[in-house]
Amino acid sequence: MSESTLVLVGPQSTRIRDASGRELVNFASNDYLQLANHPALAEAGIACLRENGAGMASVAFISGFHRAHEELEQLTVEMLGAEACILFSSCYAANVGLFGSLYGEGDLIVSDALNHASLIDGIRLAKAKRSLFPHGDLARLEEILADRRDYGRCAIVADTVFSMEGDYADVEEFRRIAAEHSCDLILDHSHLTGTAPPDGIGPYSWSPLPDGEFIITGTYGKALGGSAGGFVAGSEAVVAQLRKQARPYIFSNLMPPVAAAIAAEAIRVMRREPERNAQLQRNVEAFARIAAELGVPVPEGQRHPIVPLKASDDEAVARASVLLGERDIHAVAMSYPVVPKNEGRIRVQLTSGHTEEEMRGLLSAWSECVR
Ligand SMILES: Cc1ncc(COP(=O)(O)O)c(C=O)c1O
Repeated sequence: MSESTLVLVGPQSTRIRDASGRELVNFASNDYLQLANHPALAEAGIACLRENGAGMASVAFISGFHRAHEELEQLTVEMLGAEACILFSSCYAANVGLFGSLYGEGDLIVSDALNHASLIDGIRLAKAKRSLFPHGDLARLEEILADRRDYGRCAIVADTVFSMEGDYADVEEFRRIAAEHSCDLILDHSHLTGTAPPDGIGPYSWSPLPDGEFIITGTYGKALGGSAGGFVAGSEAVVAQLRKQARPYIFSNLMPPVAAAIAAEAIRVMRREPERNAQLQRNVEAFARIAAELGVPVPEGQRHPIVPLKASDDEAVARASVLLGERDIHAVAMSYPVVPKNEGRIRVQLTSGHTEEEMRGLLSAWSECVR
C-alpha cells in the first residue's frame, strides 16, 4: 500500500477518521446516499451472517447460489424494470465477463473513449473488431456505424455517468442510434444508480430495443451500501447466455450472501427514504451556487455529485490535494494515467450528508490552494 493511501478507522461517511485518530471531511467516496453506515444495512448484514454464515465456499454453478442472491437479483430487476439479472463479485467482473460471452469474430464493438477501465478490459477480451469514438461525439459514432453492414452483431458501449467528468451519456440519442443501426446498447450504471433523481434510476431504466439488446451493468459497491458486487441486467436471453458463458461467473465466487443482503437492504432503503436522493440533488445545486459565488469554475450545468475541479497542470492539482489534506479535507487528485496528461483534477464527490459549510470549506480552501 502506498504511503499516501488513507487507512480508515470506523465507518465510511462524510466525516471519517484515519488510523492516527484525525477527523477528515470526506469528498472522496461513492457513498452518495450515505447508506454505507445506515443501521438497517448493518442489521441486514448481521442477520444474514448469523443465519447463513460467512460464505458459499464455491462458485454458483457448482454449489448453487444463495436465497440472498436470488432476492437481490429480483430487487435489481424491479429497480431497473429489466427482464432478468445476473450477479458477479464486482462490476469489474461483470464488465470483464460480458463482452467475450456475447461478441466474437465478425462482430463490432464501438466504445466511448472515456469509458471505465473495466469496460475497456472486457472489450479487449472479446474477439470482435473494436472501435473508439471521442467522448460524447455521437456524430463520429454514426460515421463509424456507416460500415455496420460489414459486421454481424454490433454493440455501442458507454458509461451512463462518466466517473472522472460527472457528465451523463445522452441515452436517448444512444437508443435512437442503436435502433437505427440494429445495434445492442450497453450502459454502465455504476455512478448513476442511486444518484439519478428522484428514485436513483430516473429515466435510465431498462426497456427493450426494437432490433438489438439493451444491457445495463452496475455495481453495489457505490451508492447501494458500498459493500461489494456487480450485475448485468437485460433480457432473459442475454442473462441466460451469460450464465452459461461469462467466465468470471463460472470460474469465480459471487459476492458472499452477506454482501447480497446488504445491497438488497440498500435498494429497499433507497425506496423508503427518497429524501436522501432529494437532499443529494439539493447539495449538487448548492455546490454549484457556492462555486459561482467564490469564482471557482465547475462544468456548466453540472447535474451529478461528481464534480471535477481542474487546475492549470497536474503538479498544481497534486499540490492542492496535499494542502487540502493538511486542512483535514480528503479530496483526491486524479492524474495521468487515470485521466489524460495535464487534465489532472480533484474529483469531488458529494453526498446527501455534506453540509453547506463543508462544501464552502472545500471550495474556499481549493481556491486558495490553486491561486
Ligand atoms: C463506471 C464504473 N464501472 C465499473 C466499476 C467497477 O465497480 P466494482 O468496484 O463493483 O468492481 C467502477 C468503479 O470504479 C466504475 O466507476
